[in-house]
Amino acid sequence: MKTTLIRPFLLLVSLLLIAGLGLPPASAQSKPVPNAQLASKQLNARVDALLKQMTLDEKVGQLAQFSAGYATGPGASNMRYDDMAAKGQVGSFLNVVGAEATNHYQHIAVEKSRLHIPILFGQDVIHGHRTTFPVPLALAASWDPAAVELVAHYGAEEARADGIPWVFSPMVDIARDPRWGRIVESAGEDPYLGSAMARAWVKGYQQGDLSKPDSVAVSVKHFAAYGGAIAGRDYNAVDMGEITLRQVYLEPYRAAVEAGAATLMSSFNSINGIPASANPLTLTQILRKEWGFDGFVVSDWGAVAELRNHSIGDDATVARKALVAGVDADMEGNLYGTVIAAQVRAGKIPESVVDEAVRRILRVKFALGLFDHPYTAEGPAYDATPERRAAARKVAGETFVLLKNDPVEGVGTLLPLTAKAKKVALIGPLADNKAEMLGAWAVTGDPKYAVTLKTALAERLGDRLLYAQGCELLSGEDANVIKRVNFGGPVAADAHLPVPDDAKTIAEAVETAKKADVAILALGEPTNWMEGEASSRVSLGFTGAQQQLLEAVAATGKPVILVILAGRPLELKWAAAHVPAILLAWSPGVEAGHAVADALFGDVNPSGKLPATLPRAVGQEPLYYAQLPTGRPAHGDLSHMPGNSEEKFMSRYMDEDNTALFPFGWGLSYTRFSYSQPAISRAEVPVQEVLANHSPVTTVGVDVKNTGSVAGTEVVQLYIRNTAASVEQPVRELKGFARVTLAPGETKHVEFPLGFDELNFYSAEIKRTVEPTTYKIWVGGNSLATAETSLQVVE
Ligand code: BGC
Repeated sequence: MKTTLIRPFLLLVSLLLIAGLGLPPASAQSKPVPNAQLASKQLNARVDALLKQMTLDEKVGQLAQFSAGYATGPGASNMRYDDMAAKGQVGSFLNVVGAEATNHYQHIAVEKSRLHIPILFGQDVIHGHRTTFPVPLALAASWDPAAVELVAHYGAEEARADGIPWVFSPMVDIARDPRWGRIVESAGEDPYLGSAMARAWVKGYQQGDLSKPDSVAVSVKHFAAYGGAIAGRDYNAVDMGEITLRQVYLEPYRAAVEAGAATLMSSFNSINGIPASANPLTLTQILRKEWGFDGFVVSDWGAVAELRNHSIGDDATVARKALVAGVDADMEGNLYGTVIAAQVRAGKIPESVVDEAVRRILRVKFALGLFDHPYTAEGPAYDATPERRAAARKVAGETFVLLKNDPVEGVGTLLPLTAKAKKVALIGPLADNKAEMLGAWAVTGDPKYAVTLKTALAERLGDRLLYAQGCELLSGEDANVIKRVNFGGPVAADAHLPVPDDAKTIAEAVETAKKADVAILALGEPTNWMEGEASSRVSLGFTGAQQQLLEAVAATGKPVILVILAGRPLELKWAAAHVPAILLAWSPGVEAGHAVADALFGDVNPSGKLPATLPRAVGQEPLYYAQLPTGRPAHGDLSHMPGNSEEKFMSRYMDEDNTALFPFGWGLSYTRFSYSQPAISRAEVPVQEVLANHSPVTTVGVDVKNTGSVAGTEVVQLYIRNTAASVEQPVRELKGFARVTLAPGETKHVEFPLGFDELNFYSAEIKRTVEPTTYKIWVGGNSLATAETSLQVVE
């Protein structure tokens, strides 16, 4: 009886869909299959056959993940892993690195456990594995997905050789607040750029085929919206409307899933009151039902056990909530291992829920080929081969952002350095510190291979180079800061001990600068542990006595070039006002010194663009270009545009401009580029045409010319504004970019497609849609671009 009623109803729904009566396009209705390997019938048949043989305890064993080595969180357990592996009580390990160590456990699991199920080894491979590349925020500044793919592929190859087929990367959290130290691991503030980077990471790591010997499965993290932590304090709650959640924060995860990501990591934070590691909206509704994800979700370190601290229940309740919501594997906390089986036996959790989690994990193990090739050949590690070092140097060269290069009276622009600078003074605590060059997540990168700026400049300048350290990175900081930063080992501790007398070392640096024609200052903040996880700050200045050092050297009147080595946007207001040349070099990796020297001497022309806004003052944070409009804009239409309104009752600060110090997308070059008026191929498009399919409906074309005298690469950027939507839209949104290399005098034509994917937004009913409206469109070299055209979307 019931079925006969349902059938006509379904028919009616289908007819409505076909007629397109306000419902999403038909393509959005069928469940997508983002990773064909994981959905394959053959593979799933193998999974089911194995699952049938498993006891409940063996199933629960697959859900458990332990750290059997170096620990990144509290409470690393000290269990007898050999014994557990033999009993099938370990599904995966993290922090077991190297062919020998991984083979040790794998032999036990495969040869001694009843069903011979191989262990999956995961590891934080973030910006390279053995060969350290620039930090992810820097890689995003390259706006070069091909470079990111290459970095991911090298990481995959090196990780596999170390017995690791699963990496905890990419981190795709939108980060709009640099107080949050994990901005260094992200692609910055923008969902469009972030999605492009997310796709590139997944493609580079997985290569579209998990079974390849040099492919690894990704773990896209931290799902979801971890970067939205209130006040930029790590692990803090996230509270935002569902439209912002989906339209901004979830976009890069969606891109990664659509690119075939095999696993995701659930985050520590809560989202609108529901912890992300027990959140049915993100983990079930969105991830599984809407995006069709067939891989598995691992919790972040202890995140399941930490649900107790979110006060949503006792051990049994929180574990059940996490599992039922869709967290399949429990990293390090082992709460699943202690409470799930009993709850299944008591009838509180259907065994089918456990089965489904196990199925998802086994799918990835099968797809990676672990059942057929469980062991790793033991041989020499990949440590910093010349080919990889060359790649690291080249990629780093693309990430540097030339913030400023103003002419100095009687000298001209300071960069690139010319032979006119006979004596060069290199000053600063980051001028000759190997460990600091690697960046915040160089887990297996060895500092001994790192090249400092002092080494690289000495190679070029010989005795024309003068050097003074000037101060320590943390001199004068509070004792607690020093203690927290020095957490984690001798390298960091050596690097960050305060020196007793800054005044003396700063005076020495001043004398060194006086003897030179130009001074290069290498300043920033400690990467370990002042950046990255658990490294939020309330100030964004240079640490220690570095600001005093900078001001003292600038006071000599010698021309100053500031090289910033840091993994987060710092507050640079004084520097921007007083220093003529500023190069933001981030944490460049193993070839840091060589790469920075290439840019300083003009062998490489800087082409990086900011993936995150640089503020004037920390009190502006979170500051990002794609703001929503206000009824009282301080400076006209775009509140991020410069202006000088005297009006009081406007959306503004009493004591600071609203604008960025350096806006999103900003970056100079040693040459200049000019833009033609953008031309749109169709200036008017019916809304039904945009809604009907996901291919472009129009294109925006622009001619970009190199008007200077050296070759250079410009990142051409396209921004839109929807001027009349049912839900207010940001004042600008990035919707296209292209890296274009131009010889002096050369012009190239660049075309940007626009269609549903670029023009849609979330309606009040939480559906992606496009409505009749006018889009303003700008093309240029940063988010303040002025070359303008428009598109009418009509009834
Ligand atoms: C971090 C993750 C990391 C995990 C494993 C956690 O503390 O939040 O990003 O992948 O540890 O090391």
